[in-house]
Formats: sequence, C-alpha cells, structure tokens
Amino acid sequence: MKTRITELLGIEHPIIQGGMHYVGYAELAAAVSNAGGLGIITGLTQGTPEKLASEIARCKDMTDKPFGVNLTFLPILNQPDYPGLVRVIIEGGVKVVETAGNNPSEYLPALKDAGVKVIHKCTAVRHALKAQSIGCDAASVDGFECGGHPGEDDIPNMILLPRAADELEIPFVASGGMADARSLVASLAMGAEGMNMGTRFLATKEAPVHENVKQAILQATELDTRLVMRPLRNTERVLTNPAVERLLQKERDLGADIGFEDVAAEVAGVYPKIMQQGDVDAGAWSCGMVAGLIYDIPTCQELIDRIMNEADQLIAQRLEGMRAGTATAA
Ligand SMILES: Cc1cc2nc3c(=O)[nH]c(=O)nc-3n(C[C@H](O)[C@H](O)[C@H](O)COP(=O)(O)O)c2cc1C
Repeated sequence: MKTRITELLGIEHPIIQGGMHYVGYAELAAAVSNAGGLGIITGLTQGTPEKLASEIARCKDMTDKPFGVNLTFLPILNQPDYPGLVRVIIEGGVKVVETAGNNPSEYLPALKDAGVKVIHKCTAVRHALKAQSIGCDAASVDGFECGGHPGEDDIPNMILLPRAADELEIPFVASGGMADARSLVASLAMGAEGMNMGTRFLATKEAPVHENVKQAILQATELDTRLVMRPLRNTERVLTNPAVERLLQKERDLGADIGFEDVAAEVAGVYPKIMQQGDVDAGAWSCGMVAGLIYDIPTCQELIDRIMNEADQLIAQRLEGMRAGTATAA
C-alpha cells in the first residue's frame, strides 16, 4: 500500500507506533520498523540528551529501517533539555520526529534544516492547521478515544478525521482507537493516509513492559477507561483501577479548588512502578478505549502483517463485493 505517509517517511506500511512513556524504548521501535511500520522512541523517557543518544544508537543496532523519536513538549516550569534532545536526534541521523503537546515551532528550523520530517500530534483541527502553518510535514490526528491526552474538545475520530481531511493540505494519520484492519481502512476512507497506534502496540510481545500491563489491557473492555485531570485542563485517558477511582473522588470533592499537588500521589512518577515492576494499580496510566478490541499479544510483525492482509481482504472482497453486489459477511 502506497500513501502520502509511506512516501514521506520511507516506510512500507502506513502504520506508526506513537511515543509512549516508559514503553517506547529501542526494542519496540525497532520491532515496529522491522515489520515495515514506523517505530518511535519516546524522548522524555530517556530524559537527558546523552541517554537519548545511546537509545538511538541501540535502535540503530536493531534495525536499518527508518524510525522516529517522540518529543512531548510539556507545560511545566522545569523544562527538559529540549535543545539538547533535538541536537542528539539530528546528530543520531534520525529522520522522523513526532512532536506532541505544546507548539514545537522553536525547534522546527533546526529539524527541517537537518532533513528531519516532523509529524505533530494534535487533538483539534485548529491545532493541525497551526502545525501545517508553521511547517510541520504531517499531522497525527488524535481523537477523543485515544489513550493519553485527548485534549479538551472531546471530538471522536468519526467526526475529527473527515473534518481534518476537509481542512488540511499536509497528510495526516488517524490516531486514537486504532487496532486492526477495520481501523486502517475506515481511516483511509475518511481521508487519513495511515494510522498511529499506542495501546495496541503496548500489548505486543516486544513491548518492553511487565507482563501484568499486557494482561490488564487484554482483560479490559471499552468500558474500562476514565478521564482524569479534566479540572486541571490536562485531561488524560487512563485504565481504571483503585488509584484512578481515588483520584476521581478527589476531583469531585475538591471541585474547582483542586491543584496538581492534590493528584500527584496518583500521577507523578508512577510509570516505572507500573511498566517495569508490573504494579498496575500504582497510579494512573494511559490506555485507550481500544483496549476493548485487543484480544491477543502478537509480535509486531504478526500484528502488522495481519492488519495489512486483512485490509487487503476488506477492500478487495467486502467493499468491492458490496460495490459489485456480491458481498459476503465481514
Ligand atoms: C502508556 C501510554 C503512554 C503514552 N505516552 C505518550 C507520550 O509520552 N507522549 C505522547 O505524545 N503520547 C503518548 N501516548 C499517546 C500515544 O502516542 C498515542 O497517541 C495514543 O496511544 C493513541 O491512542 P490509542 O491508545 O487509542 O492507540 C501514550 C499512550 C499510552 C497508551
């Protein structure tokens, strides 16, 4: 399958693995890239330029295919060393950066001069238009369903994707709620040039996280995510657990008076305990509604091959059959 995204990124299949804190290590990024998609290392999990440089080098040892680095621009006072992280991305010869969070414009000239393609992840059409206007090469349009930060507009992908298609000139991928060939074909029909997946890639053999995390996703249904930190305008979709329900009770009790310090126990610094030690109830961790569509833990190669084979069948048999009046059941 050839789309504007496969052409732009130099990849075989229009499938991207979104940056994921304490998940997007070289092992996962390389596995996705080796399977023909675009794997992405999560820059802030490494934290320092030196550590990110060695993670990039490790990934290069594991794949000779293109891979990317996620840079999440956080709205906090003590900023990570973003200039240093950008420098090692360029020096490491990385060809794709997925930006997310705040406006990445400060770093675009350096990235573009180095020939790095920039995909900005956005939860609103107006943000995607802004990304286009500042020179981003593509957008990743993240609907309300998504694991992680869906923004504050609450527009699901059934509306957001065609709206993005109506407004954008740069290519975009569909993100949020994507799991399988049906997601891919539907996204392409709505104007996207591929799809980005987070939660689905977390439940793969190569995701370097504790088995408990993968089992929690397998067991979860589409009813099991919650939105936390909405009163702080930092909404995050997470898998429910006792810590999340405690956090939501605090939000109800404290109302408009709530501050970050009130929820810090449930959200700050919990990822290593969850992802590495497997204490899945240690706090709030991002997970999409798509958990309800995840029934197995395949390798990245198996997952991507299955998606591409089934997408082919969906298009050539189900859709073409309907057009020709010879359709069979899905
Ligand atoms: C555990 C987890 C951690 C994530 N961490 C980040 C992150 O650090 N930066 C970021 O831009 N997106 C992050 N995301 C969002 C994903 O990159 C992706 O946009 C999202 O998962 C797509 O929705 P889906 O989970 O329905 O596929 C995270 C998602 C998950 C599930």
